[in-house]
Amino acid sequence: MEVAIIGAGVIGLLSALTLTDSGHRVTIIARDLPGDESQDWASPWAGAAIFPHPDAKGHSLQVETFKYFWALAHRDPTSGVQVVKATEYYDDRTDDSTIWYKSLVPQYRRIPTEDLPDGVKVGFKFKTMTVNPAIFLPWIKKKLEARGVRFIRKGIKDIEEAKHITGCRVVVHAPGLGASELANDKDVVPVRGQTMFVETDFDELIMLQGSQYTYIIPRMYTGGAIIGGVSQEGNLDRGVDESLRSNILSRVRNLSKRRLESVDLEKCSTRNIVAFRPARKGGYRLETEGTVVHAYGFGSLGYTYGYGAALKVQELIESVSKGQGILRSRL
Ligand SMILES: Cc1cc2nc3c(=O)[nH]c(=O)nc-3n(C[C@H](O)[C@H](O)[C@H](O)COP(=O)(O)OP(=O)(O)OC[C@H]3O[C@@H](n4cnc5c(N)ncnc54)[C@H](O)[C@@H]3O)c2cc1C
Ligand SMILES: *[C@@H]1O[C@H](CO)[C@@H](O)[C@H](O)[C@H]1NC(C)=O
Repeated sequence: MEVAIIGAGVIGLLSALTLTDSGHRVTIIARDLPGDESQDWASPWAGAAIFPHPDAKGHSLQVETFKYFWALAHRDPTSGVQVVKATEYYDDRTDDSTIWYKSLVPQYRRIPTEDLPDGVKVGFKFKTMTVNPAIFLPWIKKKLEARGVRFIRKGIKDIEEAKHITGCRVVVHAPGLGASELANDKDVVPVRGQTMFVETDFDELIMLQGSQYTYIIPRMYTGGAIIGGVSQEGNLDRGVDESLRSNILSRVRNLSKRRLESVDLEKCSTRNIVAFRPARKGGYRLETEGTVVHAYGFGSLGYTYGYGAALKVQELIESVSKGQGILRSRL
């Protein structure tokens, strides 16, 4: 079947991968494409950690994604995906009863309480992956082009316009924050993030969640890491909050037991990132509406949900395609 995908973020691109895997012909239409560095979309600016979340819905999507990226990191490092040692800390819980993925992530173990940094109540170590979006997005675009996927750069006003331009009746709607207009979805909200790229040879992932959101995410092929962060719902300020820079560095130093001491914001090469997570009240939307499959609202976990979401998109497209078959046979 001919399928159009609105959006060339991680969700649209991985959906193109699963759809071409199952024999569909795909056209992607998007305002921003891999390689673009604009703040109008989220995917280039993610850490990105593949990091299942104890409180987020859709466990099976996160499991499928974990397996996909694990295999990809081993199969093809030129994809920008690497396996890393990870440390996860919380200050809003005291045990691992919510950590549903402890039997998924390799080498999971609980950190003895006496080894936890100040203010942290519980912590775990395991292995996971980080994705360098600057490598991964162009990598997957090239793979898709080799499979005959067409890319059209265009901002659209509504879903009908995408059908008209591509000539496809069936559409995957994966426009991130664009869904507030294109699907008129009032629950879609931007959540501002601010991070920094810093040069460092520290090559482990550390994440603190709970009352604050602090992390170090090593970036493959860069000699550095992304440090962050903040989570500011509804804040649309595209500028850099300068005061956050030293605050973030201080937080990650504390968290890493001072293993980022050599990072100097004045002397080392650093780069600021301000971007907006495409979140949705109630969580992501993955469902069919007529001949449209909606796939948006993945918030701070778009990479972590990505491949699982794309498998679900493929399954939904199969059911739309069967429905189309019935429609045709009745005519
Ligand atoms: C600072 C930061 C750190 C993050 N870290 C992580 C992390 O460590 N792990 C993780 O899993 N996730 C992380 N995320 C979240 C992740 O980046 C997003 O969830 C993910 O990129 C969303 O992908 P998407 O494809 O839904 O949307 P986007 O990447 O925003 O792509 C949307 C696409 O739709 C197109 N589009 C939108 N409107 C229109 C229109 N009207 N017409 C045509 N095209 C349109 C855009 O041009 C773009 O191609 C982070 C996000 C931020 C901001
Ligand atoms: C880092 O730790 C020091 C010493 O415990 C503390 O004074 C400081 O406030 C911490 N920094 C941040 C940003 O929490």
